[in-house]
Amino acid sequence: MASVVLKGTGQKMPLVGFGLWKVTRSSCADTVYNAIKHGYRLLDGAGDYGNEKEAGEGVARAIKDGLVKREELFITSKLWNTYHAREHVRTLAEYQLKLWGIDYFDLFLIHFPVSLKFVEVEHRYPPEWFGDDGKVYLQDTPIQETWEAMEALHAAGIAKNIGISNFSGALILDLMRYARVHPAVLQIEHHPYLTQEPLVKLAKELGIAITAYSSFGPQSFIEVNMDRDAKLLMDHHIVTQIASAHGKTPAQVLLRWATQRGIAVIPKSNNEQRLMQNLHCIDFNLSPEQIKEISALNHNLRFNDPGDIDVRLSIFA
Ligand SMILES: NC(=O)c1ccc[n+]([C@@H]2O[C@H](COP(=O)([O-])OP(=O)(O)OC[C@H]3O[C@@H](n4cnc5c(N)ncnc54)[C@H](OP(=O)(O)O)[C@@H]3O)[C@@H](O)[C@H]2O)c1
Repeated sequence: MASVVLKGTGQKMPLVGFGLWKVTRSSCADTVYNAIKHGYRLLDGAGDYGNEKEAGEGVARAIKDGLVKREELFITSKLWNTYHAREHVRTLAEYQLKLWGIDYFDLFLIHFPVSLKFVEVEHRYPPEWFGDDGKVYLQDTPIQETWEAMEALHAAGIAKNIGISNFSGALILDLMRYARVHPAVLQIEHHPYLTQEPLVKLAKELGIAITAYSSFGPQSFIEVNMDRDAKLLMDHHIVTQIASAHGKTPAQVLLRWATQRGIAVIPKSNNEQRLMQNLHCIDFNLSPEQIKEISALNHNLRFNDPGDIDVRLSIFA
């Protein structure tokens, strides 16, 4: 399986993984089991997705049935915004491991560079963005404190690799000034409408691997009413023409456009056929002209912006 070698540990991260956001909880265990059966080795979860227990059940069944060994899987999870304080990071990572039924994460990421007021897991889990009264409550925990606690997870072997998500260039450069363990991975929204070339270049220069999320652009955001009425990338004539030229689907072309430039992808699907189709996206090559044509669709259109929830969360301003 094609992979990216992570700086620091030298561990191989599969280039194509399976994303777990909005994977239906009731069928999540079966979906994860099927994903592993069809060849996925990377699972991208998060406390916020509310399906870690079910994902872990799928993993346990796959291991029990001999489909895979734990060490052949690459399991990613993420620290939610309400647990940024030093004293909460480890507690939560251990809580999440327990949900998954595993004893280490291959990769643990800070989900957003946003610190929200602590919420006890007994009170509400996952806590999401809002307090009980529907308002957003910030907490003054600087990223340096959270990163030091992430480094402690790494030292304890709870997370083999640690990384960041939704960080901008300025924040990454600042983090690099104090980090004793550098982030192995940066996970960002990345698709032809949001190519983020300067950020991609910076991460490459710093030796931080990039994982693209929401590779299909607006597609994922329709069901949560966040698609900004954008034209679907899968229907865009540039993408469909290139797909038919290769005898591939638009989804496969969108994934290949990223992986061919060394960017890992984690497509999500609740459908077994589409899940399989997405995994088989690296057995063809786009020409440099085709890559250029797809990249030219960029117009800095971002779908996942916490600033839309509350202006005090404008991390991309
Ligand atoms: N770090 C972060 O802040 C962050 C944010 C968002 C996402 N992520 C991660 O990235 C993963 C992927 O991103 P995403 O879930 O937003 O979106 P995505 O993978 O770009 O798109 C998923 C959408 O595309 C559809 N789809 C999947 N395969 C398809 C195919 N072959 N043909 C046509 N439609 C297809 C899915 O519907 P069906 O399910 O019906 O197939 C779903 O509506 C997430 O699951 C999560 O793990 C991380």
